[in-house]
Amino acid sequence: MLGTGAREHALVTALAADPDVSSVVCAPGNAGTAALAEPREVDQLDGGAVAALAEDVGAELVVVGPEAPLVAGVADALRDKGFPTFGPSGAAARLEGSKAFAKEVMVAAGVPTAGSWHVAAGDDARLEQVLADLPAPYVVKHDGLAAGKGVVVTDSLREATEHGRGHDVVVEEYLDGPEVSVFAVVTDAGITPLLPAQDHKRVGDGDAGPNTGGMGAYAPLPWAPPGLVDDVVAQVVRPTVAEMERRGTPFRGLLYAGLALTAAGIQVVEFNARFGDPETQAVLALLDSPLTQLLLGTAPPRWRSGSAVTVVLAAPGYPAAPQLGGVLTGPLDAPGVLHAGTRRTGAGEVVSSGGRVLSVTATGTDVADARGSAYDLLARISLPGGHHRTDIGLRGVNP
Ligand SMILES: Nc1ncnc2c1ncn2[C@@H]1O[C@H](COP(=O)(O)OP(=O)(O)OP(=O)(O)O)[C@@H](O)[C@H]1O
Ligand SMILES: [Mg+2]
Repeated sequence: MLGTGAREHALVTALAADPDVSSVVCAPGNAGTAALAEPREVDQLDGGAVAALAEDVGAELVVVGPEAPLVAGVADALRDKGFPTFGPSGAAARLEGSKAFAKEVMVAAGVPTAGSWHVAAGDDARLEQVLADLPAPYVVKHDGLAAGKGVVVTDSLREATEHGRGHDVVVEEYLDGPEVSVFAVVTDAGITPLLPAQDHKRVGDGDAGPNTGGMGAYAPLPWAPPGLVDDVVAQVVRPTVAEMERRGTPFRGLLYAGLALTAAGIQVVEFNARFGDPETQAVLALLDSPLTQLLLGTAPPRWRSGSAVTVVLAAPGYPAAPQLGGVLTGPLDAPGVLHAGTRRTGAGEVVSSGGRVLSVTATGTDVADARGSAYDLLARISLPGGHHRTDIGLRGVNP
């Protein structure tokens, strides 16, 4: 397993529980993954170094968690050396690595998405012209990977223009409607969609404040229209996979469709080329069959009934200026506590080392039940100055 977040801790947990898996290594991992998976240091962006580590540990399957190594071609380096790898090639990961490329593929494939304009860095006159012709709110996205800081959605024409100036950007029409995430595992055997989930991107309750990497999630979505997942596969995933095939850059791995359910139907907000964090923690909590069978496409997944809710605990100051090094206390090794930015000190304390510190995930008969258990678990963990949202999953209660 390559990566270090709560998503990786969730994946490691599922791999460690898989009867076909004898041992797990997580590079670099965190204080939580270390209980289940041997920690190893590696430069995640260096395909040669990752392949050398895979060789050293005799890896039979390498799962690449984050987007940056995928876009850097780490999965190619692994497959070139003969290691079975879950994660798309660098060419296919461009669906996440370049917003302009993703739009080009969607248009070619006839996938429903917001109208968009690609503006080259420095072409300020065109940027101003494109924005002037659109109504507010304005959506301006930096073309490349930006670790969650590349997108503004704003009513201010000045802010939108400032965000775009000097960058290669995609300007988009605004999509109005609830957002959902649908993950699909794409293998040679075909497309397998997972349970739909909803992320909570803004830092504060009621979706107030700036965007974050994600403050919580729940799955599945009791209010989702019937047939949503089948419609997403038919209208979005299948045509996109076919178009990538046609281009000679087949997509194999996890295709994450970020969607808005608008009055005009399903519209793609974005693609990612890997499992999403924090939705993965909720979705995998409901997986009742071996993860490797899902990733390798050898058997369809089985799901537990009920719901799962994930709540993220963030460091003080996150997202703008997280203060790290706070000491965590409580049941840090309890089932459902999934570490992200944590590390164990020489003295044996667990301290925060990232803006999103950990997440707690609980399952229940419905969203209300799972929410109750997740918040009970979180209440037993303390981090001085740490903060979390209190309304994760509320939309799924009494839908
Ligand atoms: N066209 C749009 N209309 C309305 N809101 C949008 C639009 N595009 C993006 N957004 C909002 O901005 C958020 C971030 O945009 P996007 O998902 O493209 O960026 P990202 O940085 O790649 O996100 P992630 O970290 O999830 O990969 C979306 O989740 C959505 O809330
Ligand atoms: Mg993205």
